Amino acid sequence: MKYIITCVMALLLFSGVSAQNKADVSLNTKINSIIRKMTLEEKIEMLHGNALFSSGGVKRLGIPELTCDDGPLGVREEIKRFDWNSANWTTDSATFLPNGSAIAATWNPAMAYKYGVVIGEEANARKKNVMLAPAFNICRMPLCGRTYEYYSEDPYLNGQLAIQAVKGIQSQDVAACIKHFAANNQEVNRDNVNAVIDERTLREIYLPAFKAAVEQGNAYTVMSAYNKVNGYWCSENDFLLNKVLKKEWGFKGVVISDWAGVHHTVAAANHGLDIEMGSAGPYDQWYFAKPLLAAVKAGKVSEASIDDKVERVLWLMYHTSLSKNHPKGSIGTLVHSRAAYDIAAESIVLLKNDLHLLPLKPNKIKSIAVIGDNAIRTFASGGFGAGVKAKHELTALEGIKSRFGKTTDIKFAQGYKANYLASRTDDQNAGYDKPDQALINEAVALAKTTDVAILCIGSNREYESEGHDRKTLDLPFGEQALVDAVTAANPKTILVIMAGAPYDLNKIKKSNHTIVWSWFNGSEAGAALADVLEGIINPSGKLPFTFPASLHDSPAFALDTYPGKDTTAYYKEGILVGYRWYDTKKIDPLYSFGYGLSYTDFAYTNLETDKKNYRPGETITLSVKIKNTGGLAGKEVAQLYVSKINPKVLRPEKELKAFKKVMIAPAKTAVVLMNINVNDLAYFDDKLHKWVVEPGEYKILAASSSKDIKQIAIIKITE
Ligand code: BGC
Repeated sequence: MKYIITCVMALLLFSGVSAQNKADVSLNTKINSIIRKMTLEEKIEMLHGNALFSSGGVKRLGIPELTCDDGPLGVREEIKRFDWNSANWTTDSATFLPNGSAIAATWNPAMAYKYGVVIGEEANARKKNVMLAPAFNICRMPLCGRTYEYYSEDPYLNGQLAIQAVKGIQSQDVAACIKHFAANNQEVNRDNVNAVIDERTLREIYLPAFKAAVEQGNAYTVMSAYNKVNGYWCSENDFLLNKVLKKEWGFKGVVISDWAGVHHTVAAANHGLDIEMGSAGPYDQWYFAKPLLAAVKAGKVSEASIDDKVERVLWLMYHTSLSKNHPKGSIGTLVHSRAAYDIAAESIVLLKNDLHLLPLKPNKIKSIAVIGDNAIRTFASGGFGAGVKAKHELTALEGIKSRFGKTTDIKFAQGYKANYLASRTDDQNAGYDKPDQALINEAVALAKTTDVAILCIGSNREYESEGHDRKTLDLPFGEQALVDAVTAANPKTILVIMAGAPYDLNKIKKSNHTIVWSWFNGSEAGAALADVLEGIINPSGKLPFTFPASLHDSPAFALDTYPGKDTTAYYKEGILVGYRWYDTKKIDPLYSFGYGLSYTDFAYTNLETDKKNYRPGETITLSVKIKNTGGLAGKEVAQLYVSKINPKVLRPEKELKAFKKVMIAPAKTAVVLMNINVNDLAYFDDKLHKWVVEPGEYKILAASSSKDIKQIAIIKITE
């Protein structure tokens, strides 16, 4: 019987594989027969932009253009074919999805998938084949202007989210374009900075999420970054594009340049770039247009490599625009709003709730002062970089009114002016950090009259923007003065901070008892926030990056490697990025990676492993019991960090290797199961150029944040 079952299973497996193989072979045959019909000129048309967001097709053979559009916040409004001005469509209002660091703060890959599905469906409704999302460069440096677009400082968290975002987008036969490959970690000098990074650091920190998104997410396209890595532009970096991405990771898809990020024809063509994109024409003069044709004719680029690029583009098309039963898509739907709400609701991080002022009990509160420009501000667009023409965006004030307005008197005061535009020079922006005393007085007068004050501060999409980094960690717009004054006027002041990156909250952490962190949280931001304030949603977000106590504690500043000298940035901190640095160097952060409170409490016990000794290739199965010891149902993110005992090479104090978000009812205990592959405990040996699992003892730490270790188990790895 056993024999028969084995045979049947083998047969099924074999026939499954061969069906897939057959499909691959027949697609390859089809693609090759198309390529055989194409002239060299036609092939080259497909390898460069012919407008701002499309590259050429071949009408004669029925090959369409390849169309793309920006995420990551949602599908960007339609702009004109040849300039960045709005095309003034009336059908392109879209769902504004929570920003990257908000998605990361959910610590829930299912939310990243949900995000992806919305992006994919809305892209289809707009007939876009490639969405330029998700973006997940490592948050190396807290001031980076694009931190809000990116996920996290941790490669594992990044990877787990990226895999699901890609799968979600591609579930709709739309290609994800994972970006920016690689090490686009600062905006200052992003067009010419050379990031000098040793191979171990690249392999352990900057590449793993891309690897995961390619190997496990099966991303169809990759965007090469603007900067150089180790002396070579990312758009012509043989190591990154050919050796690692295409050869080692087996990437079958298309490498697309960042916009105007190509510098040479031959180097880019031979070193792995497939499509050149950019902004301004004349398009036939681009590196991958007439100059590429000339380079092929001169024998500097082989026709075989042109065929390989075209084959990749056609392969991409057969998985997207030319896929069978291609979904029609939908845009700005209620279902998509609900997805935006779900993500936002899980992303909000409760930083402090010392007096248990939250959740608010509406029937006990007669009046609320909602204060701060961010209470009425929308975040779907602003600054440089992609925005969304949001079909709707519920502000904090609107959310609070809709939840509390029936029983509570709600009044608003602006409190501060957000006097900063990304398009202005520093001189023009001068004074943006000064408080506005008249607005503060008005806010204080209001706060004195109400039961509770909800103070909505933080930054906005002008202050955090592509194209520039912030200059300081300080809260902008004189907000601290407003916080001090309102807190003194009303002892029941709740701070709500909306931003996409770390800020200096030292004074606030010391002086304020109730602090909630929200983000640029999408179309339903106000509803999600109000539901957290009311306790309809029990907060479960956890910080996806460390908030340093001082900018100078952070590695790139401590080692004076930001923004680099003469456009070279030596990543001297190596593998010690984010909490890896703070923990290893014993520097206390303001808020640690993975931190976030709940309205309930969780107790961890019984961390157990299935065995005590493991070998490379095996899986460590762990279980930990988490009891909800409070009175409200809530979600906890169990985090597993691993720490090598007596390592023979430098290792970070600890590294995240698994996590799981679980809902636990009051008084109930969840047994949380997680797996770690022994091979994932390896470090990259720079000299041997390979991953090495060092034998010996390892601590496994079950934690509620990187600083809050609840349970420890010790295992041994033998060779
Ligand atoms: C950004 C990319 C973006 C592209 C197209 C570039 O400046 O770096 O992330 O996808 O523009 O808008």
